[in-house]
Parts: sequence; structure tokens; C-alpha cells
Amino acid sequence: MGNLVQTSSRMTPAGPESDITRKVTLRKERLQNLKPIVRVQGLSKQYRIGVRRASNDTLHETIFRKLCSRLSWFKSNGDLHHETIWALKDVSFEVEPGEALGIIGRNGAGKSTLLKILSRITEPTTGRVELFGRVGSLLEVGTGFHPELTGRENVYLNGAILGMRKAEIERKFDEIVAFSEIEKFIDTPVKWYSSGMYTRLAFAVAVNFEPEILIVDEVLAVGDGPFQKKCLGKMGEISRAGRTVIFVSHNMSAIEALCNRVLWLVDGELVEEAETEKVVSDYVNTGVAVSTE
Ligand SMILES: Nc1ncnc2c1ncn2[C@@H]1O[C@H](COP(=O)(O)OP(=O)(O)O)[C@@H](O)[C@H]1O
Ligand SMILES: [Mg+2]
Repeated sequence: MGNLVQTSSRMTPAGPESDITRKVTLRKERLQNLKPIVRVQGLSKQYRIGVRRASNDTLHETIFRKLCSRLSWFKSNGDLHHETIWALKDVSFEVEPGEALGIIGRNGAGKSTLLKILSRITEPTTGRVELFGRVGSLLEVGTGFHPELTGRENVYLNGAILGMRKAEIERKFDEIVAFSEIEKFIDTPVKWYSSGMYTRLAFAVAVNFEPEILIVDEVLAVGDGPFQKKCLGKMGEISRAGRTVIFVSHNMSAIEALCNRVLWLVDGELVEEAETEKVVSDYVNTGVAVSTE
């Protein structure tokens, strides 16, 4: 392409050159359109298991643990042994803008870990992730909101983290509360929310802050029936509007209704990546698609 431009500028001045410049611009635009919005390369994640998650401990548990270690019931750090597991093993894939990508696999396959890395909640051990758009995510209950802050404060905090101005957040606030249907509890600290209430607010935040990439982890397992339907409807709407959606679910009919392509994870490895019908049928035929969640 570079050669073409050079040759033309030497041979003819204005006319043909502008033709070629136009072609170059068109080609550039086409290449830009082909650029993935998410690029994941060689992603692996190692966890240490047998390690207490201190941040989740209550005061009671912390005191008890400290007492135990003083009394030498356990080793000094309170753990009997450390092992490691690979939750993700060398996973690579790309997502085109406007795609709805499903991720399926049994419990413990690494689906939530992948979504947490994509949402920058946790770092990969090796590999890299490139995201070319604003991310809105609904992850496992307990991720994304600060437990001591109220629903209202968390909405503002989330908006601020996404780089939104106060006025923009204010404009979206009523819509978020209306979608979540938890108006009565909006000034209650979210640590007192039921998992259903938490999910309602988190989903409303994720979809109403206009993400270019919407990441949703298993929301259907938590909310009640009507809310699940409303979430699926909203995700379909977002996808049809040309936004990118990445969706983890054990509900194969929801995956089939929403996604054009599916990744199947087994023990942290990407075993199949193809159009929805093919992957879902292979998954169902292995007899593992019966949900246990
Ligand atoms: N914070 C963590 N610490 C240690 N192990 C973890 C942690 N999070 C996930 N795991 C482990 O990583 C594996 C993958 O988990 P996860 O990504 O939650 O799977 P899925 O969402 O597919 O059910 C599981 O074996 C799980 O026990
Ligand atoms: Mg999970």
C-alpha cells in the first residue's frame, strides 16, 4: 500500500493520487473495523489454595485465627499447607466489536477468573489482555461494590471509577435505581443487601453506564425469574445496539438466545471456540451441561 502511494505521487499529481489516497483511507477504515475490541493472549492464572482470604474474615474469625496460631494449633500463618492450582491455562481469543460471546464450562472451569481478569479485578499470572472500550461488568456477588458504602454511594463510586463526571452520574442515577427496583434500600449499606438485591443494583449500574463491552457472570443464577428475564432482554438490547457482550451462563437456552459465538473451558483450558450451536451441542452431548448451580 505504501508503495502504491509513492509511485502515484511520482507519476501523476492531483487526480489519481487522490483516488489512491481514498483507497488507502478506505482500507485503513476496513482494517480498523476488523480490529478486535478484546484481545486475550496466552492468559494463565495461578492461585494459591489453602490460603485464608483475610479480607473476607470477620473480626471474630480474625481473633480466633490469631488465638489458634498463638496456641500453635496451626503453623504460624494459620495454614496447614500451600498448594497452587492453575485456574486458567494459556487461553487466547479475540472478540470483534458487536459480538455476543458466550463462555461455558463446569463449575471450577475458570469462567469467573477469566471475567475477573477482563474486568481488571485480578491480574493474570502470565499473558495479556487488551480492551479497546469502556467495560461494564456484573461479576460474582461481592465483587465491584464496597460493602460499607450505601447503594447510592456505590453507584457514584462506580461511575467515578469509569471516569464519569458527577453530572453524568446524576443524570443516570434515577434510571439505575428504577431498573434495579430497590429504591427503598438505596441508602442502606450494601453489606445488608440480599444477593438478589445486590445483583439487581450491580446489573443496573453495569448496563446503564453505557459500556462498550458488557461482561456478565452468571447473573441468572441469583435474581428471581422476572428479573432474569429483564436482564436477558436488556443484554439483547445492548447487543443489538452494536455493543459487545461477554456472557457466562449455565443456562444453554439463554446462551443460544443471546450469543453468536461460544468458548468452552475445561479445567482452565479453552477446548472449543466456534459458533453457538456447535459448541452448545458438543457441550450438551458430553452430558455435563446439567447445571449444579
Ligand atoms: N481467589 C481464589 N483463590 C484460590 N483459588 C481460587 C480463587 N478463585 C478461584 N479459585 C479456583 O480457581 C478455579 C476456577 O474457579 P472459577 O474461575 O471461579 O471457576 P468457574 O467460574 O468456572 O466456576 C477453581 O478451582 C477455584 O477453586
Ligand atoms: Mg463462576
